[in-house]
Amino acid sequence: MSNKTPVTAKRRLDYQPPAYQIHDIELSFNLDDEVTKVKSLLHVFKQGDHDQPLKLDGENLTLIEVKLNGKSLQQYELTDEALTLSNLPDECFIEIYTEIDPASNKTLEGLYKASGSYCTQCEAEGFRKITYFLDRPDVLSKYTVTIYADKKRYPYLLSNGNKIDSGDLEDGKHWVKWQDPFFKPCYLFALVAGDFDKLTQSFTTSSGRKVALELYVDKGMAHRGEHALASLKKAMKWDEVVFDLEYDLDIYMVVAVDFFNMGAMENKGLNVFNSKYVLADSQTATDEDYFNIESVIAHEYFHNWTGNRVTCRDWFQLSLKEGLTVFRDQQFSADMGSPVVNRIKNVKVIREHQFAEDASAMAHPIRPDEVIEMNNFYTVTVYDKGAEVIRMLHTLLTPAGFKRGIDLYFKRHDGQAVTCDDFVNAMQDANSINLDQFKVWYEQSGTPELTVEQDFAADTGTLTLTIQQHTPVTLDQSQKKPLYIPVRVEYLANDGSSTTDIIHLTQSQQKLVRDGFDVEPTVALLGDFSAPVKVIRTLSAESLLTIALHSNDGFSRWDAAQTIYSQFIHSLTPNGSTLAITQETITALLDGLLESAMEDQALLAEMITLPSVETLVQQVPKYYVESLHSAREKLERIIISHAQPMFEKQYHGLAFTNYDYTPSQTATRKLRNQLLMYIASTEQGEELVTQQFMQSDNMTDTLGALKAAQHAKCKCFDKLMSQFEETWRADPIVLDKWFALHASRQSEDILSRLDLLMGHQQFNHENPNRVRSVIGSFAFFNSTGFHAKDGSGYRYIGQYLQKLDKINPQVASRIVTPLTQWQKLDEERIVKMKAELVRLLDNKDLSNDVYEKVSKSLGYQ
Ligand code: TRP
Ligand code: ZN
Repeated sequence: MSNKTPVTAKRRLDYQPPAYQIHDIELSFNLDDEVTKVKSLLHVFKQGDHDQPLKLDGENLTLIEVKLNGKSLQQYELTDEALTLSNLPDECFIEIYTEIDPASNKTLEGLYKASGSYCTQCEAEGFRKITYFLDRPDVLSKYTVTIYADKKRYPYLLSNGNKIDSGDLEDGKHWVKWQDPFFKPCYLFALVAGDFDKLTQSFTTSSGRKVALELYVDKGMAHRGEHALASLKKAMKWDEVVFDLEYDLDIYMVVAVDFFNMGAMENKGLNVFNSKYVLADSQTATDEDYFNIESVIAHEYFHNWTGNRVTCRDWFQLSLKEGLTVFRDQQFSADMGSPVVNRIKNVKVIREHQFAEDASAMAHPIRPDEVIEMNNFYTVTVYDKGAEVIRMLHTLLTPAGFKRGIDLYFKRHDGQAVTCDDFVNAMQDANSINLDQFKVWYEQSGTPELTVEQDFAADTGTLTLTIQQHTPVTLDQSQKKPLYIPVRVEYLANDGSSTTDIIHLTQSQQKLVRDGFDVEPTVALLGDFSAPVKVIRTLSAESLLTIALHSNDGFSRWDAAQTIYSQFIHSLTPNGSTLAITQETITALLDGLLESAMEDQALLAEMITLPSVETLVQQVPKYYVESLHSAREKLERIIISHAQPMFEKQYHGLAFTNYDYTPSQTATRKLRNQLLMYIASTEQGEELVTQQFMQSDNMTDTLGALKAAQHAKCKCFDKLMSQFEETWRADPIVLDKWFALHASRQSEDILSRLDLLMGHQQFNHENPNRVRSVIGSFAFFNSTGFHAKDGSGYRYIGQYLQKLDKINPQVASRIVTPLTQWQKLDEERIVKMKAELVRLLDNKDLSNDVYEKVSKSLGYQ
């Protein structure tokens, strides 16, 4: 089935504690383009009484010499994956001399050189590409690091912790020595060497310690670093106020790099960031960019406690740090801006991407049981569903109870490498609640479905809700247990008053009885999206309108509007059942929204936005590509023809102000650009789009105009796009927006356009941001192009991934996702998609990363 030599998965239940611990490591790096020399001195302690050898992980290293207690060692076993030393005393010093080649490392994992600077990325298992070591998170060591490099080209030599010494050498080189006082796993090690612009500020902690904050960016970019630094200070303050967590070193450094596989990395005291999550000014960054920077800066900062001070015992426990840290950054963002709009943002990620993952062959619990390539498990399930699981604890325990649990967790586990069970146990022990059933969330994959029936006895005023929970089987698990699910319920009375309950659902079927109603209330379920589940329920158009227009819960209002739109769209496709939602429901919703003078402009913008195609697909058994798209477009036309005058009036009523990133301005721009999306396809469209593009003083409105023009297929699109390209040609992170807009455009000749884009001067196959903007945007968001009936979209992606896999397997493996999600498509497309997967698998040098996802998708394992 595959030409590749079989790779075996690791299993969670096979965990064994390490046979040795390494208490101290002294590293020295001689950075050089030809050959970088790495020397490592390990202080090793045998754990318990045994005669197992010490097996150190290593990959792509040239071993020069090994010494044991100062004496050259001749007897060792060396393979492509490990250096094994036998017959070691209980305590010893091991010195290892290796050579590596960072300049030719295009995987962006381990130590690599890109755009003239050296940098590292060790999570999850990249430290083994730097030196031989026990590359696992339950080995905690104290690091001392000395870096030698040319002083002119690399004036800044950075690593974790405190700078303790430095000096110059005669040959134009200099050196710096760093020491990190905290024990840490090797995935948190970092080194950066290069020339940068540096911004320095400081933060005084609540206990009065002054922390130096240093931000390193590409030369000439200093003015774009202010927002990131301001965000960092807000995050530091917030964690003190909400969780009593203070920063623990005297220095916190953030370095922005242009070549990076993911968003950012929380290395102790030295975060490394993808520059797109650092650099911003009003000219070049959108409100969304500002938001993302604030949230990623916070996320990495929050890891200092949830991830670094308390880390993971093994990689199956990844959600221990990621789910919890995503929850923390979501709460932070909610406090910095609009809680409702943030919640909607979180829910969209779950419904568009996480539900899709659970419905695919990559379905896994938030704590996976089996892994081939760990990098494949940095998923929306581990991160975002993981955060939903933490949020449910927060809901069940109340914020005060959750805080008690967090306090106990740190009291018990500071300085340790622990498991998800340890976390839940701390939550349980700090509160009087049994969380045994709750733990099923950690072991079970799939999206639970709640089927709800409502019954009202008018004579007694008794309302009965019957809720059944059912988790459909997933490709990884055939048995499912009932879960412990908090369901927020809101009873809306006719007079506009409302009461709220939180129901603890534990059985497969549960009846909830509530008395005291004069008339039957409208019941809104799953307020604030209290659990990551699907609700299946027949509500009348009238009830949906009542919730959309009158619920006290902003999320429920939005959700009801989304249900109205979704049901209307599906009713026009072969998935549709009898039509409960008519055109009149749609117009009543719009009239209600637009005439009520809604104060929350951002919520209004969300409520007039249709569910994405990706979200719609997750609501139905089959994805009828053409029919779903045309149904969605039809609803858009209905909305425009009804609401055009109101949309235009609203649009013109929104003032253009000098750009500032504030919640109220952001809300106005969000509404403006959503209105423009609709208006763009009307007679005034061309003119308004062009006008907004011309007069905009900020990237949010500029890009809003371009997106509207693209969506409505305005004639002005090409002209505006070339004007944009001329302005931003020299600025790749800005140009990425242009790449993405071109690649997600609906057009017959999209594939030749992709070729042209990749021929652009700024395009570079080795830069993940560029690849994601062109290829990622096409595969994930150009659903008509990607799903072209003749299979040409699949073919294009398949062929490209063959090449990309040889350069950067991690990025290739992320982009392969849409190609593996064939389950809901029609037979013809399934055949074509699978053919592409088979072709990929045919390649005997295929990376483990792509192999794992493709072979799972084909059902080969
Ligand atoms: N720990 C990082 C975060 O979520 C994720 C990360 C950054 C990562 N770079 C990576 C994961 C490379 C795997 C590989 O904050
Ligand atoms: Zn993280």
